[in-house]
Amino acid sequence: MLEIVIIGSGNVAQHLIKAFKKSKKIKVVQVFARNKESISHLLPISKITSDYNNLKEVPVYFIAVSDNAVAQVSSQIPFSNKVVLHTSGSVAISDLDDKNIRGSFYPVQTFSKNKNIDFTKIPICIETEQETMYKTLDLIAHSISDIVYKITSQQRKALHLAAVFVNNFTNHLYKIGNDICIENQLDFEILKPLIQETANKIVNLSPNEAQTGPAKRNDTQTINSNLNFLTNENQKEIYKLLTKSIIDNGKKL
Ligand SMILES: NC(=O)c1ccc[n+]([C@@H]2O[C@H](COP(=O)([O-])OP(=O)(O)OC[C@H]3O[C@@H](n4cnc5c(N)ncnc54)[C@H](OP(=O)(O)O)[C@@H]3O)[C@@H](O)[C@H]2O)c1
Repeated sequence: MLEIVIIGSGNVAQHLIKAFKKSKKIKVVQVFARNKESISHLLPISKITSDYNNLKEVPVYFIAVSDNAVAQVSSQIPFSNKVVLHTSGSVAISDLDDKNIRGSFYPVQTFSKNKNIDFTKIPICIETEQETMYKTLDLIAHSISDIVYKITSQQRKALHLAAVFVNNFTNHLYKIGNDICIENQLDFEILKPLIQETANKIVNLSPNEAQTGPAKRNDTQTINSNLNFLTNENQKEIYKLLTKSIIDNGKKL
């Protein structure tokens, strides 16, 4: 079994620990957590350290910490010529300390500690600076997921940006919809089948084909009526910007 150490105890680290526990090829021998208690429900306390000097020597280290801390954490690993992988969508592998073989292991999903997820269905994007290491990364990724892509740092940045649009921004639009429901004594539950169907549609249709609504039809009366209804200036700006984007996109087609 290939032995690994995971540094971090947040959302991604906890899901990785759970996923690797099921793998027959990878063994998590230790986890670094600043607060040992935060992951003591997942593994014995003897396998958790909060001291970099006590890190076990293994061939592969995962750094699953906040983006801002990735570089600094990589320099605290007291070994060299090991494979060191971060899990960030936006940090370049060149930000990692070059005493080790640098790479990334980016799971393209939204993780929350308390929400279980089937890792086998999560695309994992891998990158390493040393071509010969792809075999190892591929083995690790395939040990927990059925979907593995080899991508460059530049592509990962683009993918992360695309993910911000399709996930974070979409979720913020749910929040605005929820606020509008609350202000008008409506149950947000009414919108949930619509949200589900919108996501389901792009399994078979392209986003262009799936687009509906007043902006797509250029129904100016409805657009103006929606805008007049809105009292929140921020929501108005977002509505106008997205409407313009949909109309302009229609003109290009
Ligand atoms: N969550 C997602 O949906 C998602 C998806 C794909 C990729 N990622 C990437 O995965 C990485 C981790 O994200 P996350 O969501 O798991 O973050 P998180 O839940 O906020 O956890 C961050 C972890 O980083 C640790 N940390 C922060 N600064 C540190 C430092 N200076 N030294 C040591 N540890 C430090 C925190 O320790 P304390 O608890 O002690 O503060 C915590 O364990 C990020 O690079 C993120 O971009 C996240």
